[in-house]
Amino acid sequence: MADLTTTFVGITSPNPFWLASAPPTDKEYNVQRAFEAGWGGVVWKTLGEDPPIVNVNGPRYGALYAGDRRLIGFNNIELITDRPLQINLEEIARVKRNWPDRAVVVSLMVPCEEASWKRILPMVEDTGCDGVELNFGCPHGMSERGMGSAVGQVPEYITMVTRWCKQYSRLPVIVKLTPNITDIRHPARAAKAGGADAVSLINTINSIIGVDLDRLLIEPHTGRTGSHGGYCGPAVKPIAQNMVAEIARDPETAGLPISGIGGVTTWRDAAEFIALGAGNVQVCTAAMTYGFKIVAEMIDGLSNYLDDKGIASVQALVGRAVPSIVDWRYLDLNHVDKAVIDQKLCIQCGRCHVVCEDTSHQAITASKNGRRHFEVKEEDCVGCNLCVSVCPVPGCITLRALAPGELDRRTGKTVSGEVANWTTHPNNPSATRQA
Ligand SMILES: Cc1cc2nc3c(=O)[nH]c(=O)nc-3n(C[C@H](O)[C@H](O)[C@H](O)COP(=O)(O)O)c2cc1C
Ligand code: SF4
Ligand code: SF4
Repeated sequence: MADLTTTFVGITSPNPFWLASAPPTDKEYNVQRAFEAGWGGVVWKTLGEDPPIVNVNGPRYGALYAGDRRLIGFNNIELITDRPLQINLEEIARVKRNWPDRAVVVSLMVPCEEASWKRILPMVEDTGCDGVELNFGCPHGMSERGMGSAVGQVPEYITMVTRWCKQYSRLPVIVKLTPNITDIRHPARAAKAGGADAVSLINTINSIIGVDLDRLLIEPHTGRTGSHGGYCGPAVKPIAQNMVAEIARDPETAGLPISGIGGVTTWRDAAEFIALGAGNVQVCTAAMTYGFKIVAEMIDGLSNYLDDKGIASVQALVGRAVPSIVDWRYLDLNHVDKAVIDQKLCIQCGRCHVVCEDTSHQAITASKNGRRHFEVKEEDCVGCNLCVSVCPVPGCITLRALAPGELDRRTGKTVSGEVANWTTHPNNPSATRQA
């Protein structure tokens, strides 16, 4: 069986599945039960200075559903912990004592002043926890007070606070980044410049989950008003994965450990994050939707996958897909794909024809000899993948790469087999000028 043990910034955990800083890690009771269920680690719900913050006494969550009412996006206006600092610290110390083999990292958010960080760090270190995560990500409430994403959006602040933490603590420092920024590489570089041991991302995305159209009120609302919240869950996974990969392939942050967060619900999601450069993953919405026991499926699934692929450990998977990511200009413009419909699997719903006819390249027939029949016209197909994306039958439509020497009936050109990209293409004015 593949070894799922991971060592992330020197912190060893029996598997790469950590619960992210959020309600699942809010207190000893939760974390105790999470560890019983098998989670490899937790990032404790963000601690702040006393007096504790106050949450609204009304709906603080909202959901986006798929047609089958599966929750695919989640919105929240919750703040950091609303429990006294001392109680949290005592519980963290007890949990770490009882579960020495699990990772216990403490998330922190205090004002952007040196004295505040200098005060809280030794108290946290005294709990025996394994590391700290700096919450530079919460996009609502705390950011209005100059914390959370208000820090994460200013690279100079990130560097400054990270330096303080490295100066006043011996613990590994993980900097949690906000996705509410134009180019994620800048805050990641700033964290590295400040001496961060790792970055974790993403925190939640600015969002309004909906509007009550009867009362014309933002959702969720407390009385007559609401506020934007932070968005997470399966729908944010592609955004998070891109940001993780951007950092993994940036030469300036190469080798900086990354904890991948955002929409991880299954072992597959986790494996994808890891292949894109994450050393482990953190999970919030999936636990809030399905409970702690989902980790059992994640552990089994990842283990089976690694065994099937002959990959000996989680570490051996880290970043394996990163070399496959290039800037668009380096894509092979000589490569040609064509869609192929498996007539044995086709249920003749017609969806592929409708979308290709209306919005792509009119490359799928609707009938043959007066009967419904869906077939790709290779002479029109550009291999765009739209029909594959909408076909309700898995594997019914696939893309076939034309082999070197084959004729592309759309362009009339023979596939050369040579790789050529935009940097050298004759239609590229800069390339032509250079030639
Ligand atoms: C209700 C709720 C509360 C959260 N509170 C915190 C927090 O206190 N500190 C923090 O760093 N992130 C917080 N987050 C963000 C999560 O840790 C995580 O970054 C985000 O939800 C993305 O992961 P997911 O898609 O698995 O939920 C919170 C998220 C939710 C849904
Ligand atoms: S790949 Fe694109 S162009 Fe080709 S048949 Fe499908 S939708 Fe049409
Ligand atoms: S969408 Fe798929 S199942 Fe439906 S007609 Fe096209 S190929 Fe057949």
